[in-house]
Amino acid sequence: MKCYLKLLMIAALCISAVASAHSDATGVIKERMDGMNAMAVHSKTVADMFKGKQAFDVIAVRDAADAFVYHGQSMVGQFPDTEFSRTAKPTQALPAIWDDAEAFEQAVQQFIQQSKKLLIAADLTSDQTALKKPFFVATKNCSGCHKRFRQPKR
Ligand code: HEC
Repeated sequence: MKCYLKLLMIAALCISAVASAHSDATGVIKERMDGMNAMAVHSKTVADMFKGKQAFDVIAVRDAADAFVYHGQSMVGQFPDTEFSRTAKPTQALPAIWDDAEAFEQAVQQFIQQSKKLLIAADLTSDQTALKKPFFVATKNCSGCHKRFRQPKR
């Protein structure tokens, strides 16, 4: 019995370690990471629907687009050019965000625009096939921006 309880505790510890991978993040770094992670959850939900792993639901597409627009607009203020924002742990932001600020700003704006298009599309139709393209156009910005402005995964 004792042993069984111990195992349960270990399992619970492992789960919480995954759920708060960046519990050490603070301030603006925590804010932007939280926003990014929220978008990742939406993104996965919709991608799974397109892959047929979940029933298609246009509301989930709308919610995702809404979150992309909201967090995209928040990004504008979440990358201030300060020592903390550039270097404090556990940030994975690359200096290019500030050294090539115009390109970063452009990447943010493009993401917002294409997410707005997805939002409009999801308002106009609930047809899965019609929504596939605007969804993938919007989410291509995620990997595109990460490639350029985020450190590769360690
Ligand atoms: C314009 C640039 C840009 C766009 C667009 C963007 N990201 Fe990010 N993302 C970043 C940067 C920069 C970081 C690293 C932030 C840091 O570590 O301080 C990041 C980090 C992340 C992380 C890691 C968060 C963590 O806890 O370490 C996830 C997950 C993520 N983004 C998901 C997404 C998803 C999903 C989308 C699209 C729906 C997206 N991002 C769009 C720039 C972007």
